[in-house]
Amino acid sequence: MDRTALIRALPKAELHVHIEGTFEPELMFAIAQRNQIEIPYKSVEEVKQAYHFHNLQSFLDIYYAGAHVLIQEQDFYDLAWAYFEKCHADHVVHTEIFFDPQTHTDRGVAFETVLNGLKRACDDAKARLDISSHLILCFLRHLSEEAAFATLEQALPYKDQIIGVGLDSSEVGHPPSGFERVFARARAEGLLVVAHAGEEGPAEYVWEALDLLKVNRIDHGVRSEEDPELMQRLIAEKMPLTVCPLSNLKLRVVDDMAQHNIQRLLQQGVHVTVNSDDPSYFGGYMNDNFFAIADALDLSTDELKQLVKNSFEASFISDAEKQKWIRQIDAIV
Ligand code: HPA
Ligand code: ZN
Repeated sequence: MDRTALIRALPKAELHVHIEGTFEPELMFAIAQRNQIEIPYKSVEEVKQAYHFHNLQSFLDIYYAGAHVLIQEQDFYDLAWAYFEKCHADHVVHTEIFFDPQTHTDRGVAFETVLNGLKRACDDAKARLDISSHLILCFLRHLSEEAAFATLEQALPYKDQIIGVGLDSSEVGHPPSGFERVFARARAEGLLVVAHAGEEGPAEYVWEALDLLKVNRIDHGVRSEEDPELMQRLIAEKMPLTVCPLSNLKLRVVDDMAQHNIQRLLQQGVHVTVNSDDPSYFGGYMNDNFFAIADALDLSTDELKQLVKNSFEASFISDAEKQKWIRQIDAIV
């Protein structure tokens, strides 16, 4: 089997994808029309042309603007369903999806509207495509800890539908330490916790995510490599990093895919995984991310196998489910 066929054939788990970042321009246009919301573009082509960004903040400005057309429960359903169809095409068999409730509740959309639409798509994905999923509620770190607490309170009546909480948005200047108490509360309620750290922010933010937020995984974390002591800690604790190669390239965390550190991290024993982050904006879904690193870094069969095994091991599914997928991976290679 050649490398492309192998990537397509391997079952994969996605652990870092923002549902608002899967919003394709065609669907954005259709939903804007049916909700009669003005968007400053005349065509799908114009939307795509507006996607100019050179760092995290310039991306986030466009990403939040796009999410403004989402109003009805059906909009959130359609958004998630379109993503599940991409998962099906890429043989992503399990996914843990981030959503940003504050982006919607701050515009007057009810929390339940967002959650019900997403959850119904998750249920249909299991029934019709045999894709399992979990939802992870992310707090926007450019907003206050108080606002995060209010969002957690809104979510607690539905906590059986949410596997955990995360922390996203503008990283630099918004360290994990500002959210220590709300994460402690989430953990006390039985929720798992993850946080974006070490994407644009320094290794110090990864330490804070580990020590103060007590995360189960680090999202991105690629800048951990700048701190040898942190690297030892990640390796010793088998702490997963959810790495997003095309995102890192588009947001200029790396200048060139051939310089991406995912292979070095893997070879040193860091528990890295491959993910798409905001695939509609960054040029590709799961398999495109694999193709990009496999070509640029000349990844071996063993390395590809390890990356997909890592994705299941780092996921929040049961040990029995993990073993089932790992046996399937061994059977393919
Ligand atoms: N980083 C931080 N916040 C985000 C991202 C990201 O890559 N995507 C969507 N929100
Ligand atoms: Zn992200």
